[in-house]
Amino acid sequence: MEAAPSGLAYEGEVLSPAEKMRAYDDAIRQLDSILVGESHPILKMATINCVLREALPYYFWVGFYLVHDGELVVGPYQGTLGCLHISYDRGVCGAAARTGSVQVVPDVEQFPGHIACDSNSRSEICVPVYDQAGRLIAVFDVDSTDLASFDEIDEACLTQIMRQHFSR
Ligand code: SME
Repeated sequence: MEAAPSGLAYEGEVLSPAEKMRAYDDAIRQLDSILVGESHPILKMATINCVLREALPYYFWVGFYLVHDGELVVGPYQGTLGCLHISYDRGVCGAAARTGSVQVVPDVEQFPGHIACDSNSRSEICVPVYDQAGRLIAVFDVDSTDLASFDEIDEACLTQIMRQHFSR
């Protein structure tokens, strides 16, 4: 595979579990230090997107869909154009919002109702985000151009990051 243009993660890259764990550890440490004392949710979302996308080379699209007027609307993200509105009964993001559980999708084409904002996306993880009162405020969504990019390491680390920065 040709090298990605300097610093960009578009080409996808497979990390060993140890490399992935190390990348998340670094990102978690960075986020804890950058966001100390911060409370604005959009500030935090934009910063989490940036730090994680820099740290994890297989992140193709990363962002938050915000709970708004009974649906999900696109919030801070990095990547190609995201869908603007997602209803709770559609897609991977809708399933995360509806069930309140993390959705790990190794092959988006096998997920009934998957919404293809960008046809390059092939696998996906979606994590519900709760505020301090336990209300669902958003879902955090990451897409990769490779199949099966996301596993229990992504699930555990992303769940921890969302709890740390939005639920405490
Ligand atoms: N694929 C998602 C929609 C959001 S984008 O991937 C940016 C879904 O099925 O919910």
